[in-house]
Amino acid sequence: MKTLLVTGASGFLGWHICRYPLPGWRIIGTHWQNREGIFPKTEYLKLDLTEKDFIWKSLKDIRPDAVFHLAAYSGTGYCEEFPEKTRRLNVDASAHLAEMCADRKIKLIFTSSEQVYDGQKSHYTEEDTPSPKNEYGRQKLAAERFIGEILPASAIVRIAVLFGQASPVARSFLQQWLETWQTFLPVTAFHDEIRSFLSGRSAAAGLFQLLQQDASGIFNLSGEASMSRYEFALLAREIFELTEGKVIPKSQQEIEMTAYRPPVLALDNQKIMDTGFQPSHPKYELKALKKEIFLPPGFSEN
Ligand SMILES: NC(=O)c1ccc[n+]([C@@H]2O[C@H](COP(=O)([O-])OP(=O)(O)OC[C@H]3O[C@@H](n4cnc5c(N)ncnc54)[C@H](OP(=O)(O)O)[C@@H]3O)[C@@H](O)[C@H]2O)c1
Repeated sequence: MKTLLVTGASGFLGWHICRYPLPGWRIIGTHWQNREGIFPKTEYLKLDLTEKDFIWKSLKDIRPDAVFHLAAYSGTGYCEEFPEKTRRLNVDASAHLAEMCADRKIKLIFTSSEQVYDGQKSHYTEEDTPSPKNEYGRQKLAAERFIGEILPASAIVRIAVLFGQASPVARSFLQQWLETWQTFLPVTAFHDEIRSFLSGRSAAAGLFQLLQQDASGIFNLSGEASMSRYEFALLAREIFELTEGKVIPKSQQEIEMTAYRPPVLALDNQKIMDTGFQPSHPKYELKALKKEIFLPPGFSEN
């Protein structure tokens, strides 16, 4: 049995990784403030990644064969507002972790973001030059560069916007929409923000695929199709049979945002598909999710 250390296991994606583990791998997940965010029965430890000595001690005690480095300040607005605080975790701690993994010859898989791209072309491949337009994207790119230099055998995964089952402490934008429809209020969604939405479960599968293949380098990881948030909302409403739910299309310019968000960020998945990863269409991901999510009173499930 090999050991996988998952930093940020108490976050949204960490929940899915611990929920759908890879056979033959023991998972130890780290949390910081929210232990209850760790999927039940997963082994865990509390780790503040901004404390270099704690990282070192954890790696020495646990002796993992691989690390999935998820822990981050993942909100674009929060990174924009607090660049110094967020850089300490998103960039500095990531670089420290990479140094220690290099020292101990541990495989590192880092979760970066589609936000490293500028939104100026239709489909991004890993060959396209990143040019982030917000602080979060700049931090992710800086971490990528440190990690790539320190540990060339690492895998860096640029992930699209995630949705899926909520954990007790972390959820995706979809939960907010379902709750809004439940109270018979309209959901507002951008018609001009295009993304390649991916479920947390599929993202976990993509990361495990890279681990199994011992892949290194940069990989995009997204769902099968790109669509606007508005189209995604209509699809979710249809699949969840929330026919009374209203969706109001808006343009990005109509809503003030703390951080700039590139309007079109669609990812080309070919490179990760060549490793054996199969992306899914959001339609099928949402159908699978519908079976898992408790439906609001007043709405029936077929
Ligand atoms: N969700 C998405 O749509 C998406 C898309 C693309 C890329 N990503 C990337 O994928 C990764 C996971 O995203 P996510 O949505 O699961 O993030 P998340 O829900 O915001 O979780 C962040 C995690 O980081 C941990 N953390 C915060 N401060 C820490 C510290 N000082 N030391 C150690 N851990 C700390 C949190 O622990 P506590 O909660 O216990 O404090 C939590 O487990 C991130 O790197 C994110 O940038 C996410």
